[in-house]
Amino acid sequence: MAALPQDVPEFLKDAFWQEYSRWCGFGAELDGPLGRVAAATRSDPALLRLAWHCYWRVFLSPEPCPPGDWPEPVAQLGDDAGLFYVLIALAFVPLMQQRHREWKFPEEVTRQTAQQVSRYCQDTYRRGNQGRTGIYLGQLGWLRHYTRERYVRLGRLEYWLGPNPYHLEVYRHRGSRQVVALAPDGTHFAADGTIYRDAKDYREGEGWTTAITRDDTSVSGFLVDPNGRGTRQRVVLPLADWACTLQHGDHCLMLHIPSGGAMTPEACRQSLTEAASFFSRHFPRELPLAVVCTSWIFSPQLLEIFPPEANLCQFQRNLFLFPVASAPWDGLWFVFLKHGPINLDTAPAETSLQRGVLDYLRRGHRWRLAGMFYLLDDVPAFGSEPYRSQWPPPIF
Ligand SMILES: CC(C)(COP(=O)(O)OP(=O)(O)OC[C@H]1O[C@@H](n2cnc3c(N)ncnc32)[C@H](O)[C@@H]1OP(=O)(O)O)[C@@H](O)C(=O)NCCC(=O)NCCS
Repeated sequence: MAALPQDVPEFLKDAFWQEYSRWCGFGAELDGPLGRVAAATRSDPALLRLAWHCYWRVFLSPEPCPPGDWPEPVAQLGDDAGLFYVLIALAFVPLMQQRHREWKFPEEVTRQTAQQVSRYCQDTYRRGNQGRTGIYLGQLGWLRHYTRERYVRLGRLEYWLGPNPYHLEVYRHRGSRQVVALAPDGTHFAADGTIYRDAKDYREGEGWTTAITRDDTSVSGFLVDPNGRGTRQRVVLPLADWACTLQHGDHCLMLHIPSGGAMTPEACRQSLTEAASFFSRHFPRELPLAVVCTSWIFSPQLLEIFPPEANLCQFQRNLFLFPVASAPWDGLWFVFLKHGPINLDTAPAETSLQRGVLDYLRRGHRWRLAGMFYLLDDVPAFGSEPYRSQWPPPIF
């Protein structure tokens, strides 16, 4: 409240939402409702303070502290209540623009990236709210990153340049160019090569624990199967033959997948190609080595559920999938819009994705999410399944 402007906050003024709703991909159909919500918020001291407090928490707070389970102001705004937080979401555009200008990103890239707000509203919130317009607070909170990180949408996918958060180590053979990954030191795998988030989920004495050891001439560790499993196969890689090509802390592109379907292999290939050249052009001293991500989208279980030609299956087969610690419902919010356990009898089964996952869970499978990496040196080989086609590795 100490930072509340004397005048009306910029993002509640009509000229502001009129300009930035277009940047975010909304058309004139939302002008009437947005205008009503902005006017009602300006004239109600409690709403105005709530809006400011939310804006401050999402965008200005020195530490992230996004709103949690806050209500929509239905009593004040009736059917328009969902737009209250959309108005705040629009405010990410000028903050992002300012960073993008400093980095000299083309305006077209900023415009593409700003579309995320309408995607959140139209593809996600609307699906879970009988066609109404609004934004989930978790997604509103995520917009903070766009205003601080080197975070852009390039074609179908979004990327964020930063240090690699993963601890697996990736090596490339200097001759054959083959790629292998060693599981992070001290990982405990279940018997099937997966990792439980909760230690209580392991059966007594189950599985094995990995180690990475090194000396001046070699590194030794447990191979990861690019189909997304840990293995018990321990290998010694002579460093004269194998170069470390990705490790914790290296410059990387964290991948984000905006909603909207149509993740065709061609769209993914084009986006990866653009990302490799965009970031090397803009940040030549922080050349990213790989694209990395954890998501439900990389669960190898999707390959058991959907036909090989499904977009997500084709994407997965091109990547190096690896297991990450997972609880049984992790990531499924994006499919069912519900946190925590899914009731298999009442969960929405409106799309082939929802039906496929529900069927799979009804057959007694436990869900898990997974990680992936794709080395940027391999972008020209995208489409040829470069990691799977080399598995199991012939040279051990
Ligand atoms: C990831 C995503 C883009 C994949 O798209 P895709 O596989 O190319 O999607 P398609 O357009 O081929 O759709 C395939 C089917 O899945 C459905 N579907 C797609 N995304 C869905 C979702 N998030 N929830 C429920 N169903 C979904 C489609 O309606 C379609 O169903 P139909 O066959 O009954 O018509 C898509 O799932 C999506 O928009 N997800 C939300 C964003 C997300 O999860 N991001 C990652 C966060 S970690």
